[in-house]
Amino acid sequence: MNFVAMQFYTIEVPYASLGGARLVWRGVDEDDEQVVVLTDEELRQLVEIFEKNSTGKIELVDQVSTVLINSDVTQFNLQYVFLEADTQVLKRKVFEYVKVYHKYQLPSYTSSQFYHPFEHEKKSKSTSSISNEKIKVVKKSLLEQILSSETYLQAEKGESDIFKIITKRRSTRKFTKTAVEDWKIDKILAAADTAPTAGNFQAFQVFYIKKEEVKRALVEAANNQPYVNAPAVFVFFMDPNRIKMKMPSSTIQKFSLQDATLAASYAQLAASALGLSTIWIGMFDEEKIKSVLNTDLQPSSILCAGYPVVRRLPRSRRKLNELIKVIQ
Ligand SMILES: Cc1cc2nc3c(=O)[nH]c(=O)nc-3n(C[C@H](O)[C@H](O)[C@H](O)COP(=O)(O)O)c2cc1C
Repeated sequence: MNFVAMQFYTIEVPYASLGGARLVWRGVDEDDEQVVVLTDEELRQLVEIFEKNSTGKIELVDQVSTVLINSDVTQFNLQYVFLEADTQVLKRKVFEYVKVYHKYQLPSYTSSQFYHPFEHEKKSKSTSSISNEKIKVVKKSLLEQILSSETYLQAEKGESDIFKIITKRRSTRKFTKTAVEDWKIDKILAAADTAPTAGNFQAFQVFYIKKEEVKRALVEAANNQPYVNAPAVFVFFMDPNRIKMKMPSSTIQKFSLQDATLAASYAQLAASALGLSTIWIGMFDEEKIKSVLNTDLQPSSILCAGYPVVRRLPRSRRKLNELIKVIQ
């Protein structure tokens, strides 16, 4: 268990669920952050304990983490980290949070708007005790809005059956000049954000490249593969410093590579679902990419997307019995 010296900071609306809360701790650096997401039910239990001015224990849905509410300090024993919050501060913030109606700013998204703060509106000025009903406020994260927006679903004419998407996907190295719509870019990036990551530390970064001059420089950095100059280009980076766990640096490196790769894979499938084709680029000069994009982060892959000149059938794979070993 890794003790993280952090200060409990605030409570926010969860990214991708309708209920519950996102408890945020901050470290010394501004972007040094730890988050605990409580479900609706867990939040309700916490409120109940606070309302009774009592102490207690809440088992979180992951069946590993627990929250111990003592009169002075509340302890969050999570799978990888141990966090603390002053019980009185936490109680005050929880009460403030559950009394607020959360409304979201919509609908003109651009990818740069992803993490704009949600607009909070007071539902009522009442300070009376908090009922379960009040906790059932309408909450929908921007991430969720982007992924589930009905207007977009109707307009996109994309595929939503995951099995059809994976069986039809085929890499493309020849894209038409048609630009990829902004809302599709948003969905691709939002999909990347939903990928699982080690300890939920999200140890990756995505650069979305719009500037033609930069795309051309990336072609050169990627062994002159011309298709890197595609209508939509995303560069996925490992960001191991986000992982706040005490473990060998090789493991941290491995986790951040896996995080970045999974995110890119989610983005690739999302692009396919939206009727786009992609090419995954793993062959490049890392130092050149870093210099072109002016970052110290290590790139893991480039994902290029656009509309294919020709839609081809998927490539064949080896026989399943060659791929799979069943241990029984
Ligand atoms: C890790 C990885 C690295 C890759 N690097 C390149 C690359 O640098 N250039 C390229 O043209 N294709 C690259 N590809 C694409 C593969 O060649 C392609 O996925 C593979 O031939 C299977 O074809 P399919 O994607 O149509 O099923 C890469 C794919 C992966 C998963």
